[in-house]
Amino acid sequence: MSKSKPTLTTEAGAPVADNQNSTSAGIGGPLLLQDQHLLEKLARFNRERIPERVVHARGSGAYGYFEVTDDVTGYTRAHFLGEVGRRTETFIRFSTVADNLGGPDAARDPRGFALKFYTEEGNYDLVGNNTPVFFIKDPLKFPDFIHSQKRDPFTGKQEPDNVWDFWAHSPEATHQVTWLMGDRGIPASYRHMNGYGSHTYQWTNAEGEIFYVKYHFKTNQGIRCLSGEQAAELCGTDPNSHQTDLLQSIERGVFPSWTLYVQIMPAGEAADYRFNPFDLTKVWPHKDYPLQRVGRLVLDRNPDNVFAEVEQSAFSPNNFVPGIGPSPDKMLQGRLFAYADAHRYRLGVNHTQLPVNAPKATTAANYGRDGLMATNAYGRHAKNYEPNSYGGPVETGLPLSAPRPVTGYWGTHEAPQHAKDDDFFQAGELFRLMSEEEKGRLVANIAGGLSQVTREDVIEKNITHFSAADPDYGRRVEAAVRELQEG
Ligand code: HEM
Repeated sequence: MSKSKPTLTTEAGAPVADNQNSTSAGIGGPLLLQDQHLLEKLARFNRERIPERVVHARGSGAYGYFEVTDDVTGYTRAHFLGEVGRRTETFIRFSTVADNLGGPDAARDPRGFALKFYTEEGNYDLVGNNTPVFFIKDPLKFPDFIHSQKRDPFTGKQEPDNVWDFWAHSPEATHQVTWLMGDRGIPASYRHMNGYGSHTYQWTNAEGEIFYVKYHFKTNQGIRCLSGEQAAELCGTDPNSHQTDLLQSIERGVFPSWTLYVQIMPAGEAADYRFNPFDLTKVWPHKDYPLQRVGRLVLDRNPDNVFAEVEQSAFSPNNFVPGIGPSPDKMLQGRLFAYADAHRYRLGVNHTQLPVNAPKATTAANYGRDGLMATNAYGRHAKNYEPNSYGGPVETGLPLSAPRPVTGYWGTHEAPQHAKDDDFFQAGELFRLMSEEEKGRLVANIAGGLSQVTREDVIEKNITHFSAADPDYGRRVEAAVRELQEG
């Protein structure tokens, strides 16, 4: 036995004599049930995989920090944003959305941008995407939407019929579809794209004043994207292109960074804004609410173990800290439930005790106990109920975010009506902003998918949506689809 190397042991710590030959009944004989090392090794291997995320399965992670560069204390009392120069440790997970674990990185798909701030007031998770808008505006539609975009249960692959059928029934998707099929639809890497909180969130300052905010993380590497052809080639030659790029950049000491800006709307302006400011399918024009700089995010450390730290990371949009809270955006409200529920299924009830998920700048102190894989030891005499007379943790009486008045009857309601709430005008504005070349690529990308759809009514409905955004947009898509169908 080598003196310089540590001894190989079983899970129980006993030394292993032979790691190359199983225990057999004689030379060439059958194997024995008493071979604890063999049984343990095979059984443990069988249990290595856990359920993958139902969406955003394929991803990459990195640690870093967020540093405040500009004073925003007039808008939020969040401690980690409370002083210029203050740094907070962070963990980010980027992802693609639709494909399963192992899918290629360079797909035409939104990218996840999930950020955990390990603040002194608890972990704050901002679980966004690289797009400022989304396909739908009610969480009730999310499972149907995802079913239509992921692999078909019969064919086992993504089907243009399903993808476009869902969009045919979802006019509100036109803005996000225009974004996705345009030049920014395939980022060259995770470093070369922006991140957005996408939803409207609520900030509250020390005086209790309420503001609605949208987060924009602008990449300092510059935006770089791939054409459909470049991406198709890369998916074949280097399916892990985004992972390789992020990992190697940080290993080389070239630390990617983003500048955080926010758009801020005083709460009193929300009700009379010309469209519903809590509608996730719309952006707030910068001329109404200009970008205000807050700080910068820098990624400077790769995780040591992808499974332990990236696969087991868990981000939940309802992990807020004092001074930050939800808005009435219905999609966000649905997400406040969905994520922690997914984590309890995917990782178990004690996933918050895993190092990547546990608070780092403070300690969790509550009366949640036990469950599968509990590791927290609370001390012999710590009580597991509250209130108690033994000095256990107590409530603050201070809500994290400000209360918001609500009125009306319970029931299923359409969104509140504002002067300009239609599903198409922002898609049209985005189209008209594009150069001729950009419009050409957008239309070609859409037609490439839409022309594969087998039902004429689905094709027509989608064309109707593009026409409603801009008649020229619809005309061009129709012409390109017909050309591909005939060719
Ligand atoms: C992941 C649900 C909309 C961004 C997930 C997961 C679920 C989920 C269940 C897997 C969580 C896990 O296993 O850890 C939903 C529902 C939505 C919704 C129900 C709508 C009602 C959105 C939107 C965004 C978004 C609008 C971005 C603006 C993400 C990201 C991840 C994710 C980035 C991956 C997080 C990670 O890296 O661990 N979503 N989602 N989702 N979702 Fe959503």
